[in-house]
Amino acid sequence: MTNHVTIVGSLNVDTTMKVKRMPLPGETIAALSKTNAAGGKGANQAVAAARSGAETAFVGQVGDDAGGKMMINDLKNNNVDTTGIHVDDQAGTGSAAILLDESGQNSILVYGGANQQLSVKEVEDARDQIAAADFVIAQFETPQEATLRAFQIAKENGVKTILNPAPAHEINPDLLKLTDLIIPNETESAALTGIIITDETSMLMSAAKFAQMGVRNLIITVGAKGAFYCTQDGYNFIPAFKVNAVDTTAAGDTFIGALSSQLKPDMSNIEKAIVYAQRASSLAVQKLGALPSIPTYDEVVAASKNN
Ligand code: RIB
Repeated sequence: MTNHVTIVGSLNVDTTMKVKRMPLPGETIAALSKTNAAGGKGANQAVAAARSGAETAFVGQVGDDAGGKMMINDLKNNNVDTTGIHVDDQAGTGSAAILLDESGQNSILVYGGANQQLSVKEVEDARDQIAAADFVIAQFETPQEATLRAFQIAKENGVKTILNPAPAHEINPDLLKLTDLIIPNETESAALTGIIITDETSMLMSAAKFAQMGVRNLIITVGAKGAFYCTQDGYNFIPAFKVNAVDTTAAGDTFIGALSSQLKPDMSNIEKAIVYAQRASSLAVQKLGALPSIPTYDEVVAASKNN
């Protein structure tokens, strides 16, 4: 069965500069290289879902500029339905400046631009794409009122909702009540629950806190260590695959998009879907760039045969 996934989210043109080390405050250093590529948490998650075989649609906004055209073309070339992308004639397309050091760690500065102008009306215009999905996924790079409307439409139509609360931000409590599965990293989880992630006990406490706030299914991603999940059926920590990372940009996005392509809407196969998503993410970090690094289903399956 093919999952239908609709992403309500951000589209950014990423400029990545490789540096030997991160600059200190007030310091100027020379970049070793500079590349432009498609990115944005929403776009990355959409391409990860599509390359893993999901029927994928996008709801978002770009500016009327070269960056916007590039983003729409890149999504189309990856079989993502872009009819829900609105072109704004005022704000520019979102962009991100990414500094990448020799260890593969990054620092990212995001200019929201048109992403920040995504309105409830544009989400309502995409009602059909939302209603037809198995999963609707949103992040925090677009306004929460737009996400709230998307999740309301999803719930009215029996569609499961996934919230990736990234980057960390204060949350509208009503949004949590409409969220079926929340996927923060350990920092975002701590920002929302106040519980610092140190071990399995703190993860279980976080799951209890999220349940109190209205979300009953949780995955906390813990970088190169792995991912913890907790659903009504149980919990477990799944260690990540050990690889040499050259660029961790979009590792989390690849995990979420790939997961959504494999997860059953009742989440009964969550452990298997997490292992698939971790495999996809482990391949993404071995390549440069956000969207260009995301693997296809065949690449993920081939990697699983090698180890
Ligand atoms: O998660 C990685 C993404 O964060 C980058 O592609 C960048 O655009 C920022 O949104």
